[in-house]
Amino acid sequence: MNSLKLGQGFAREHDLGRVRFVQMNLFRPAFRRQTFHLVISNGVLHHTSDPRGGFESIARLVKPGGYILIGLYHHWGRLITDTRRAIFNMTGDRLKSLDPNLRSLMASDAKKRAWCNDQYKHPLESKHTIRETLEWLKTAGFDFVKSIPSSHLFRPFDPNEPLFEHEGAAGNAEALLTEMGMFFKGSREGGFFTMIGKKRP
Ligand SMILES: C[S@@+](CC[C@H](N)C(=O)[O-])C[C@H]1O[C@@H](n2cnc3c(N)ncnc32)[C@H](O)[C@@H]1O
Repeated sequence: MNSLKLGQGFAREHDLGRVRFVQMNLFRPAFRRQTFHLVISNGVLHHTSDPRGGFESIARLVKPGGYILIGLYHHWGRLITDTRRAIFNMTGDRLKSLDPNLRSLMASDAKKRAWCNDQYKHPLESKHTIRETLEWLKTAGFDFVKSIPSSHLFRPFDPNEPLFEHEGAAGNAEALLTEMGMFFKGSREGGFFTMIGKKRP
């Protein structure tokens, strides 16, 4: 409810009159199937007890020809965070400066508290891979459009690149190498990856 209040405040402040906020359980959505051109789920499914079931539930809400975008924690990308969480637990949160975002001088105390709670204190968290979620997309009737980071080696994300243009998935070996590389990036970014799919007509 607090998130929705923040969203509502933002919409009011910026005069976004056509935005509506609705609270619901994503496993029992209040919308009809095939309602939306785009469904976004950012950092949510991995905090549920059935991430794939949750994905299938929200995938049903996408119209044919529409898109789904999901952001999830990555197995390899999360390893450094998992190690830090274990250290924080053992030391009663005394070594928080091991996290670059928590020792940053740029962030406010409120931002640091939010980051710490989000990254280290969630009661439930699962991890996934690009190759695993390619299978989710395929089975739910979606063509793969793009992942961030790219499953192709040496293809860094350009913030100006079009998000909904097909990039084509890398082969298994290349995707595996790219995914292993997420271990090194996870330290600052929390080991997050994004998948975009387009529903087949
Ligand atoms: C880490 S937050 C991510 C919030 C937001 N998407 C973002 O990018 O900042 C996870 C959110 O998932 C929501 N959530 C968890 N399980 C849910 C469910 N079964 N149905 C709907 N929302 C759920 C929580 O209430 C929380 O707001």
